[in-house]
Amino acid sequence: MTPDEIRAKFLEDHAHLRGKASVLRSLACQVLRGDSELTEAMRLKGRDMQFCLIKHMQWEEAKLAPLLRSVNTAAADGADQLFEEHRGQRAKLADSLIALEGADDGDGTALAEHLLSLIRWLERDMQTEEKAILMWIDSNREPQHTPRRHTPRA
Ligand SMILES: [Fe+2]
Ligand SMILES: [Fe+2]
Repeated sequence: MTPDEIRAKFLEDHAHLRGKASVLRSLACQVLRGDSELTEAMRLKGRDMQFCLIKHMQWEEAKLAPLLRSVNTAAADGADQLFEEHRGQRAKLADSLIALEGADDGDGTALAEHLLSLIRWLERDMQTEEKAILMWIDSNREPQHTPRRHTPRA
């Protein structure tokens, strides 16, 4: 993959995760409003979002981290930071998977609250990650050619 392809796939994965988070948020809010029959659908979507995130982190480690290491020293430190952050995220996800597979809490509200908090954490994390990663990748990019605009003479 070229650096541009890696950059595009990174953003595409985040957009995909945001889409899943948005569907899940809507389900969790409905469960909190009393639609407890949606609990199992919410659990399934929660599981799906978590597996999607795990796959994404594996991809970042396999493709994005080597690219960062090739950019410059600051970006290479960023690759180390990526692995460090993923360690924390995996621990959080492991706890979350236990909550997801846990015993039914009756009306699904505890699980809905848990998933809403997970979504807030994921969205914050993606935002912070994008800011840092794009800065590192773009610090090594050729400046984009912008066609000169023709200004008619007065
Ligand atoms: Fe990540
Ligand atoms: Fe990410």
